[in-house]
Amino acid sequence: MIQSESDNRNDIRRVAVLASGRGSNFEALCRGDTGPGRVTLLISDRPEAPVLKRASDLGVEALYMYPGSYRTRFGLDEEKQWADLMIDRGIGLVCLAGLMRILKGPVLETFTGRIMNIHPSLLPSFPGLNSQRQALDYGVKVSGCTVHYVDSGTDTGPVILQRTVPVKDDDTEDSLAARILKQEHIAYSEAVKLYCSGVLSADERRILKKEK
Ligand code: GRF
Repeated sequence: MIQSESDNRNDIRRVAVLASGRGSNFEALCRGDTGPGRVTLLISDRPEAPVLKRASDLGVEALYMYPGSYRTRFGLDEEKQWADLMIDRGIGLVCLAGLMRILKGPVLETFTGRIMNIHPSLLPSFPGLNSQRQALDYGVKVSGCTVHYVDSGTDTGPVILQRTVPVKDDDTEDSLAARILKQEHIAYSEAVKLYCSGVLSADERRILKKEK
């Protein structure tokens, strides 16, 4: 079936962002060069998350949706509601940007291979929480950020792209996080642009950029 402009079912260019907090990556995706990709939906699991106001200010549909009663994952019924809403909105790509919950069920199954995350370290180093603190404690001289596809593990999916920053002797967790965050904003838009332009392919775990 050839998809027309008005058919919003599963459109590769329609991007949803799922976020729990501040929303600087969300805003970078809205303002950055994402090629044919457009952020058309923001969903948060926290009604008080600042990202909801950012989305309203930017004219993006912004919804709080109840995630269920668990602390770090979704309830099964609730995750299905999130997935159904994104299907209804014709979402083609789901971008996690500081979502403080693990996807295990319907969203992961519905959008397999179409979910990205941004993580503030050079994976596979320092997955999980407090990555900048982990990097400082380990004593690495270079850190950075990783955009990767999401699978059922924690920060284990195939790497799409990475950007590096130096770790300075006088860095604190905050100064390192701020340096990495600037690169996150560039990296995430670039990854979405590649995806929505249809130039990414996979060879086992390796994500490759097809020549057009
Ligand atoms: C970023 O550091 C991102 O890498 C991590 O959570 C943070 C979200 O920041 N997954 P923001 O809400 O996008 O400003």
